[in-house]
Amino acid sequence: MSAITIEKLFLRYGEQEVLRGIDLEIPENVCFAIMGPSGCGKSSLLKVLNRLVEMNHNVKISGDVKLFGNSIFKMDLTKLRRQVGMVFQIPNPFPHMSIYDNITYAVKCNGIAKKKEELDKIVEWALKKAALFDEVKDRLKMRANQLSGGQMQRLCIARALALKPRVMLMDEPTANLDPISADKIEDLITELKNEYTIVMVTHSPGQAARVSDFVAFLYMGRVIEVGKTEEVFENPKNELTERYVTGRIG
Ligand SMILES: Nc1ncnc2c1ncn2[C@@H]1O[C@H](COP(=O)(O)OP(=O)(O)O)[C@@H](O)[C@H]1O
Ligand SMILES: [Mg+2]
Repeated sequence: MSAITIEKLFLRYGEQEVLRGIDLEIPENVCFAIMGPSGCGKSSLLKVLNRLVEMNHNVKISGDVKLFGNSIFKMDLTKLRRQVGMVFQIPNPFPHMSIYDNITYAVKCNGIAKKKEELDKIVEWALKKAALFDEVKDRLKMRANQLSGGQMQRLCIARALALKPRVMLMDEPTANLDPISADKIEDLITELKNEYTIVMVTHSPGQAARVSDFVAFLYMGRVIEVGKTEEVFENPKNELTERYVTGRIG
């Protein structure tokens, strides 16, 4: 079964049509990249998947999205968001909370764990999964805003993982990081996709080529081409895709 099935998805903000009939199958435990030039609808599409886009009062959606076979629009929102974690372009830890509290906050709110030993275990587990533990293990009580940008982004990944999601949405997760931190996140994604389904938005064809297994090229609200990353990059079927992957549009 696919992790996510998107069927005839249309989205508009007021009168502006932003997604124009998207159909996609996203397999389980892969990194699926959504690439395309700025403004083509990537973030909107990603934010449909955890229904965050519905925070915009002027948004209208039609079509369906299924998560492991069940329509997300019929699902309890809290349940959906626990299964579908999200990481944003600008790392957004709770700045004045400690590293430890950043990870345990939603864990406690969701009733996943309460006892100190359980929480300690989850914090260590999540930080290890996010490849941050060794750098912060002696200062878990430090405020999150004292971390570097790359560390903050890995903390956000740890915070999302602590809720044990099945899918992770990442919206240009390295766009605001220095190249070394960006490399670390890319390596981490390559690790995580063995256990999680990762849907990653990127405006960088290079990044899509390096880390994704499948890629969809989005242009003006439509999927122009989708397939295995190697095939799309080595043998693009559509001229627009070819121009995009060779850096001639973007
Ligand atoms: N809340 C909103 N209200 C109105 N228009 C929006 C809103 N969010 C995004 N848009 C518009 O939708 C289009 C797609 O935006 P977005 O999904 O952010 O694209 P991308 O992530 O590919 O850059 C853009 O034209 C953008 O200006
Ligand atoms: Mg965007």
